[in-house]
Amino acid sequence: MSDAAALMDRMYRRQRRIYNITRKYYLLGRDEAIGRLDPGPGDAVLEIGCGTGRNLIKAARVYSRARFYGLDVSREMLATAEAAIRRAGLKRRIAVAQGDATAFDPAPLFGREAFERVMICYALSMIPPWREALSRALDVVAPGGALHVVDFGGCAGLPAPFKAALRRWLAAFDVTPRDDLGETLKALADARGLASGAEDWRRGYAMLAVARRAA
Ligand SMILES: C[S@@+](CC[C@H](N)C(=O)[O-])C[C@H]1O[C@@H](n2cnc3c(N)ncnc32)[C@H](O)[C@@H]1O
Repeated sequence: MSDAAALMDRMYRRQRRIYNITRKYYLLGRDEAIGRLDPGPGDAVLEIGCGTGRNLIKAARVYSRARFYGLDVSREMLATAEAAIRRAGLKRRIAVAQGDATAFDPAPLFGREAFERVMICYALSMIPPWREALSRALDVVAPGGALHVVDFGGCAGLPAPFKAALRRWLAAFDVTPRDDLGETLKALADARGLASGAEDWRRGYAMLAVARRAA
C-alpha cells in the first residue's frame, strides 16, 4: 500500500462514518460545482478523490443520463462510497475504483481513457503533490470536456482572524489550502492549450475553477 493510501485510510477509518454530516458545514461550494458540471446525455463524469461518494450520488441524481466514475486512494472511503451507491440504487450508473490521483491510468480501472467532465472537490488540499494530481486530471479531460475544481480559497473577503483560525484548524487535519491554485491551473491548462478561469466564491472561502478543452 502506498504512503498516501495508508495515511488516508488511517485518517478516515473512523471519520468516514460521520464524514457527510460533519463536512456539509465546511466543504462549501460542492453543490455549486455539481450544478456547473452540466454533462450531456451519455457523457462520462469522473470525480477524483471521491471520498464517500456524496458528490457522485448527488450528481447522478441531477444528471440522470450521464455515467459516473469515482477514484480515491483510500479503500476505507471507497467502502463507504460503495455501500452508499448501493443503498441509493445507483450501482449501474456509478463505478468507483482505488487509485492515486497523481498517477492513475483510467483505462484498466474504468475502461476508458478520457471523460467529458472531471471534478475534484476538496481533495487537492489533501494531496501533497497536488500539482501532479491537477496535471493528471487535465490529461484525462476529453475533447469538448471540462475539469471543475472546488477547494478552500484565499479568504480575501473574510476577516483575517477568521482566515487564521480556519487555517490552523485545517492544518490539524493535514489540509493545506492551495493559495496558488488558480495560477497553477492556468499555467497547466495554458501548456495544454485549454482555456481556464478561477473565481473566489463566498468572499473567498472557496475557489471554483474550471478548465475547458476545445472540441
Ligand atoms: C476532503 S475529502 C473530499 C471527498 C469528496 N470529494 C467530497 O467532496 O466529499 C478528500 C478525499 O481525497 C482522497 N485523497 C487524498 N489523497 C489522494 C490521492 N493521492 N489520490 C486520490 N485520492 C486522494 C481522500 O482519501 C479523501 O477521500
